[in-house]
Amino acid sequence: MSEHVFSTVRGVQDALRNTDLEQSMYKAGAIIMDDVLLTLHGAEHHKRRTAAFKVFGRGYFRYYEREVFPATLSRTLEPFLARGSADLIDCGYRVTLNLTADFAGIDRPEQSPAETEALLYCVKRFSEAATLFHSTRDHAEVIRDAAAALAEFDTRFFAPSRLRREEALARFAAGTLTEEELPRDVLTVLLRSYAELGLTPEILRREIAFYMQAGAHSTANSTVHAMHHILDWCDAHPGSREALLADRLLLQRFVHESLRLHPASPVARRSAGCPTRIGAQLEVATGDDVIADIHSANRETAVFGEDAAVFNPYRTIPAGVWPFGLTFGFGMHACMGRDLDGGVVPRADTRADDHQYGIVMLFVESLLRHGARRDPSHPPVPDANTARPNWGRYPVLLDSP
Ligand code: HEM
Repeated sequence: MSEHVFSTVRGVQDALRNTDLEQSMYKAGAIIMDDVLLTLHGAEHHKRRTAAFKVFGRGYFRYYEREVFPATLSRTLEPFLARGSADLIDCGYRVTLNLTADFAGIDRPEQSPAETEALLYCVKRFSEAATLFHSTRDHAEVIRDAAAALAEFDTRFFAPSRLRREEALARFAAGTLTEEELPRDVLTVLLRSYAELGLTPEILRREIAFYMQAGAHSTANSTVHAMHHILDWCDAHPGSREALLADRLLLQRFVHESLRLHPASPVARRSAGCPTRIGAQLEVATGDDVIADIHSANRETAVFGEDAAVFNPYRTIPAGVWPFGLTFGFGMHACMGRDLDGGVVPRADTRADDHQYGIVMLFVESLLRHGARRDPSHPPVPDANTARPNWGRYPVLLDSP
């Protein structure tokens, strides 16, 4: 068996668009990842992804960004502002937890700190198990923690949310609820097509746990990386904070540049389900491993320029290339949350007052507006529990209202 590594934009695209290659990075994290969208293949994957698309529409993202997220954001930031400080990792998880719970279909009826704490506990355990491949902790312990979290999640969050949706669907079937009145989330659409999609209670629970962690973990980390670069930039370029707060399209460009440098997972891994060819020539045998090195492709100098490894939001991006590179993946497993988190890439005729900026940009903007700055007595600390280059703690000071 051979391993084939692709580390250019073209190479990664060729690898990830090949439908003979199957997801292979999440086997160790099976307790959360077995049979979920990201690990399915072929027709089964296509059916489940098509069902989920009913939730992930651009129109809904736009509505969510304008109507739902601002209230969630300010409610979640309130206690941090009152205290005048925050750990961006913790704060990021709390904000993004609400986002993914809304999309996954997990209710938080109490809206209490204890309830958020309990859900946060579960989602962090799910994240660690899902990304077990890169975990530096004892793997058996991570799996034990995830199993306990899954049981707690089921009793406290998943089962009641599922029951509410089943009741809503029963009322819809009886004609006492309209289609528009049904909850708009993944849990509802999967329950509607439960038999057709071949779901079981365990798969459904894992699928929702997967959504909870996929969105929260990557959004929180991306926000912190963007803040890190922007705070550095503001230190080196006086007046930049004000300039960024006055120009939302510019701020989105800064966020896209940071997303390019920090893909959620540095690589995507696949294995060949049958003999296949990648690009024009490379023959790949059954069982061969294929590594799509997104981190390197996003720093390809031939595409992004000689300073590709450096944070430079003013770089020229060639036509046909996303400013955030391949951070949201490519091909059949490309991220469903791309436009939600990254927003729409502006065009020459984009109007700043009528644009979808993405959740990460809105979050960063709000932190900057509240005066977020590094805490000189508590420098940021890298995350020691993973080989992924993420921050473990990122203390900032905030202006109290
Ligand atoms: C900045 C934030 C995010 C980044 C960088 C990111 C990145 C990615 C990447 C790279 C993949 C593909 C992995 C692979 O090919 O192996 C992926 C898949 C996925 N992402 Fe995201 N993601 C983000 C946020 C979100 C959010 C907010 C959601 C949902 C609310 C989401 C839902 C998904 C789903 C459902 C898939 C699986 C798609 C499939 O297998 O068909 N992501 N994401």
